[in-house]
Amino acid sequence: MSFKLPFIKSKKKPEGDTEIINVPRHVAIIMDGNGRWAKKRGLPRIAGHKEGVDVVQQTVRTASNYNIKILTLFAFSTENWKRPKPEVQFLMKLPKQFLNTYLPELMEKNVRVETIGRFDTLPSQTKEAIQDAKEKTKNNDGLLLNFAINYGGRDEIIQAVKKMTKEIENNQLNIEELDENEFSNYLYTKNLEDPDLLIRTSGERRLSNFLLWQLAYTEFWFTDVLWPDFREEVFIQALKDYENRKRRYGGI
Ligand code: FPP
Repeated sequence: MSFKLPFIKSKKKPEGDTEIINVPRHVAIIMDGNGRWAKKRGLPRIAGHKEGVDVVQQTVRTASNYNIKILTLFAFSTENWKRPKPEVQFLMKLPKQFLNTYLPELMEKNVRVETIGRFDTLPSQTKEAIQDAKEKTKNNDGLLLNFAINYGGRDEIIQAVKKMTKEIENNQLNIEELDENEFSNYLYTKNLEDPDLLIRTSGERRLSNFLLWQLAYTEFWFTDVLWPDFREEVFIQALKDYENRKRRYGGI
């Protein structure tokens, strides 16, 4: 888990205009406000999601330029299935649209695509597009672009407990060895450091079941800006704010 890692100062990359020392290694974003963005313009909600796709790529560019290691984006929650069917269907098409447009640029920028969440129950076209991108980008060692899709924090913890319990029953795991590090190996994020910075757009100040375990010591940054308006300047405001945070992890 990240709070056990040494404190690392990332270097400013020449591509990033603003000097930022102490760049967060892992940034997680709750991309919220697409529906309100569309409503303000008298457009259907899906127009906000469509606009949000290009903002994802702009955000990837900034993250990559500033040498951020991991960008985890909350694209679809286990609760989002409750939305009207046409909206869910539209949201499920977005990964493919995004990858059709931007996969060449992701390759050029050495970005690796991964996901966390219940992958198996996604529609087959969504799965195939993402699987193809995972495969094509698997040897890239630049930014890790990690989509949380069909993801729920509680669901993740329950799945982990079930898997762990089976291993205990089968004597593959000794319960005495169970500690926080061991438990985190059963989560979708098993190979990832915890986020350093969580950003939520649109003025809402809640977690909405995102990364409940992993955000224990994460710094939070909220903005009223709606996701389709999230430009590089806003991202940089968050990074500049993070620069001055004093992280104590419960110590002094
Ligand atoms: C929340 O806004 C947003 C979502 C549930 C979907 C987020 C998806 C994107 C930003 C595009 C994803 C792109 C890729 C590449 C997968 P909301 O609809 O809840 O907005 P509201 O709170 O204003 O109604």
